[in-house]
Amino acid sequence: MATSDNLAAAFAGESQANRRYLAFAKKAETEGFPQIAKLFRAAAEAETVHAHAHLRVMKGVADTATNLEAAIEGEGHEFKEMYPAFIEEAKAEDNKAALMSFENANVVEEIHHDLYTKALETLKGGSDLPAGDIFVCKICGNTVSAVPDECPVCHAKASAFLEIA
Ligand code: FE2
Ligand code: FE2
Ligand code: FE2
Repeated sequence: MATSDNLAAAFAGESQANRRYLAFAKKAETEGFPQIAKLFRAAAEAETVHAHAHLRVMKGVADTATNLEAAIEGEGHEFKEMYPAFIEEAKAEDNKAALMSFENANVVEEIHHDLYTKALETLKGGSDLPAGDIFVCKICGNTVSAVPDECPVCHAKASAFLEIA
């Protein structure tokens, strides 16, 4: 029992360390320390190895239909419950930076929820999604199939969109 809780905690911690180290690496690059940046990227990669190992032991990866259901539930929880509550609290505290961060994520999680729902419907029909481009806004995370002139979520320019391989 305790080990299953520990696996969940370790997965969360390693996942956060990965993203934190990648952010630290970018900062080190801008401060002119490319080798320290490389060290942060190396450790970040290693934390991903640890996170995925813990997740495997937790049996956190199933078949793709089941994984889509889990993803739909997670995104649904975020945009229906978690972020709306966080947004209200940020408003009450007049924390504008947190409010913007939560609002951007909230809008995009609903988009993810809908994209995953469509993917699950297609998969249940027996096939992969039709081939097509996918782009992500580097400012807000908006996820789209074609680059708009301006991000409809955060108003970033078209150049803010990153093509996903
Ligand atoms: Fe680690
Ligand atoms: Fe999401
Ligand atoms: Fe955006």
